[in-house]
Amino acid sequence: MKGIILAAGMGSRLYPASLPISKILLPVYDKPMIYYPITTLLLAGIRDILIITNPKDIDNFKKVLGDGSQIGVNFSYEIQYEPKGIADSFLIAEDFIQNSPVALVLGDNIFHGFGFSSMLKEVSKRDNGATVFGYQVMDPERFGVVEFDKSGNAVSIEEKPKNPKSNYAVTGLYFYDNHVVEYAKSLKPSKRGELEITDLNKIYLEKNKLKVEILGRGFAWLDTGTFESLLQAANFVHSMEINTGMKISAIEEVAYRMGYISKERLLTLSDKYAQNGYGKYLKRIANQV
Ligand code: G1P
Repeated sequence: MKGIILAAGMGSRLYPASLPISKILLPVYDKPMIYYPITTLLLAGIRDILIITNPKDIDNFKKVLGDGSQIGVNFSYEIQYEPKGIADSFLIAEDFIQNSPVALVLGDNIFHGFGFSSMLKEVSKRDNGATVFGYQVMDPERFGVVEFDKSGNAVSIEEKPKNPKSNYAVTGLYFYDNHVVEYAKSLKPSKRGELEITDLNKIYLEKNKLKVEILGRGFAWLDTGTFESLLQAANFVHSMEINTGMKISAIEEVAYRMGYISKERLLTLSDKYAQNGYGKYLKRIANQV
């Protein structure tokens, strides 16, 4: 399976904080925001990752992440020149996807919770249909919203409805079979001029091929779209890391645990940050038996 990170927005809701650099490269506590969605894909066993950026920031992303070989994965890059919507990713990524199933994660979506990696491993095995993730929120009208019947099957999905039929938001992580490019090509721009991911999901729903996995209580799906939520996300990561002594989404650690890099490689990577807690942490992980 291949993976795409959509990191193309201008982040204007966070101006002036994100004027100098893409929002997706801003820190969430101790690491750039993009480390979190990268981790999500790595945990799903995905090593071939396309990062879609805006034209202004592509070199910044390349400077931070390179070709991925340092952590045993493959990063490639494409540009989205205009904000044509999330589903436009599949048109941009057509050559990259080829005959593979594909996962898409939005660059500003942070997921953290017990059991997430085993859920991702299960979901990434499916090569027929689509899987999305539902999460209960207080303000569903801000998101794609999924409605369930009594047996828990998805019956409708709506983008930013005025009168939401449930409190379940569809998060920014999507798994698709190889029909996704063909379906994305059939979409028409919405009123806001975008190819909507919700319209793509509706195609799968109508074909009875949309699975919705619920991310339950105790699971964290963090928003980073406003000054407050960005700070809250950083505070959450800080508090979890201090309390557990484990880092969230340290991509070098994840790559090591997934078996993509050796202990020696992890130690070499830790040297880069030897003067701070991030480097010391990686070193500690490498030296654990
Ligand atoms: C997008 C999707 C929406 C989804 C959300 C998750 O919203 O359109 O369906 O619930 O991401 O972050 P947007 O970021 O375009 O407001």
